[in-house]
Order: sequence, then C-alpha cells, then structure tokens
Amino acid sequence: MSIDRLRAHYGFTRMPFSKDLAPGMLHSHSAHAEAVARMSWCIAEQAIGVISGECGAGKTVAARAAVASLDASRHTVLYLGTPGVGLRGVYTTIITGLGGVPRFHHAALIPQAQELLAAETEERGKRVLVIIDEAHLLDAESLEGVRCLSNMGMDQAAPFCLLLLGQPTLRRRLRQATFTALDQRIAVRYAINGLDQAETTSYVKHHLALAGRSDNLFSDDAIDLIHATSRGLPRLINNLAVASLVAAFASNKAVVDEATARVAVAEVSAE
Ligand SMILES: Nc1ncnc2c1ncn2[C@@H]1O[C@H](COP(=O)(O)OP(=O)(O)OP(=O)(O)O)[C@@H](O)[C@H]1O
Ligand SMILES: [Mg+2]
Repeated sequence: MSIDRLRAHYGFTRMPFSKDLAPGMLHSHSAHAEAVARMSWCIAEQAIGVISGECGAGKTVAARAAVASLDASRHTVLYLGTPGVGLRGVYTTIITGLGGVPRFHHAALIPQAQELLAAETEERGKRVLVIIDEAHLLDAESLEGVRCLSNMGMDQAAPFCLLLLGQPTLRRRLRQATFTALDQRIAVRYAINGLDQAETTSYVKHHLALAGRSDNLFSDDAIDLIHATSRGLPRLINNLAVASLVAAFASNKAVVDEATARVAVAEVSAE
C-alpha cells in the first residue's frame, strides 16, 4: 500500500502525524506549553533546568520550540543529541561548537570549554544555551563533567544556560549523593506528563486539520481508545492514529471508528 493512495483516500494535503512539524505548527497542550515556558525562563536567567518525561512525551520537540523562539543573533545553541560518550565527548562537542580545537589532555578540556563559553558571552555578546538530550544516558564521568561546567564562575550564576532532557530515571540519578553539587544548582525541574483526554482529542484533530481534514475523521470513541492505550504520550498517539488510518483504508472505510482503532491497537501492541 502506498502513502500516495492513503493520502488520496482521505484527501490529505500532507501526511498527518508526521514528526517533522515546524515549530509554529506544534500543538500547544499544557505540558508542552509549561515545558517551553520553563526552558525559556532558564535561558533568560542562565539557569540549569531538568526536563524529564517518558519516551515520546515531547521533550525534544519542546526544546526545539523554545530554541525557535530565540533571537538567533544573540544566542549560541549547543545541542548534544547523543551523550554517553564520556567526559571527552561532552567537552569536545561544546568546544568544537564554539569554534575551538579540543586540547589533547583531559584536564585541559575543562578550562578550555570554560574560556570559550566566557568569550562567547563577553566578547561576542551572545547568550549560550547548552542542551544535553537523552541525559539519562550520561555515565558518571560525563555527569561529573557537566557538574564541573556548572561550577564555572565560582558561586556566581553560570554564564550560560544548561538544559538536561531525559527519561524519568534522570531525576533519580541526579539525586544520588555523588551528584549533589549539580543537583543543588538545578533551578527548574519539570516532568512532561501525557496529555489528558480532552487534550488528546484536540491533539488528534490538530494533526488532521494540518493535513487538510477539519471534520470528524476519527469518531470520539476511537480517540478515547487511542488516548487510553497511549496514556496521552504524543509519539504513541501518532503511531496509533496512523495505524488506525491504515486499517480504515484497508477495510475501505471513510472514517476511523472504534472497531478500526481496536485493530490498530492490536497491531501496534503486537509489534
Ligand atoms: N507539542 C507537540 N505538537 C505536535 N506534535 C508533538 C508535540 N509534542 C510531541 N509531538 C510528537 O511526538 C513525537 C515525540 O516527541 P519527542 O521526540 O519530543 O519526544 P521525547 O520526549 O523527546 O522522546 P524520547 O525520550 O524518545 O527522545 C514527536 O516526533 C512529534 O511528532
Ligand atoms: Mg527526545
């Protein structure tokens, strides 16, 4: 079955529930808006923030939205997407991101990163934002490196904003005694939870409307089932909604009803 035939069947102008939405097209449910607001506050205050949430809850999307609202000429954003490569990995990304060539010795990397970060602010007048995504994967050594970064400028406010995004285990990790120094410097902690039922309905309709269908393509009970199965987690909602569209198309239905959504749930949970 081709995507083109599926699109034609429903008269979609684009495929709904795609993961590459432009920041202006995102759905603004409360957890998303709250996470973006907190990240924006951390950026303005140059504070450390921890944003946690289950897989597919919308952490990376929220961070992208917060970054998109920044004046690019006044901010330098360093995004570390796949940490877990040790202290050297974390520092190498920061140093090269700021135009430096990482020094050979481990011990020299920390002051080098600190100098470059300070220069970005003092000489170029830019606010620096370091985002470490998937931070629950950071090993102890990398977290220690992050702690050293957060120690910059003695006890004055660090001259940059640090956002750690990760699954709920991240919050537990940071509470361990070894990381107390870092934990105490965290100004904002926010857990992105799933959407509630009304938000899931609005979320599904939002994605469908972006694809050109503002009518009731999904029945209410189909959306309720998708909500219950996904626990309101956006990525799971997307997967179930797409599977529902495919199932309805395969049985030549014009709308997604509850029976169709049930088929989709069975397929997605069997994967
Ligand atoms: N506010 C939103 N508006 C529209 N779609 C969203 C929104 N938030 C999340 N999504 C959808 O949910 C998907 C998952 O979001 P995201 O990748 O941010 O989750 P995550 O919490 O970073 O997950 P992981 O822990 O796996 O990295 C996105 O690809 C996007 O399609
Ligand atoms: Mg993510």
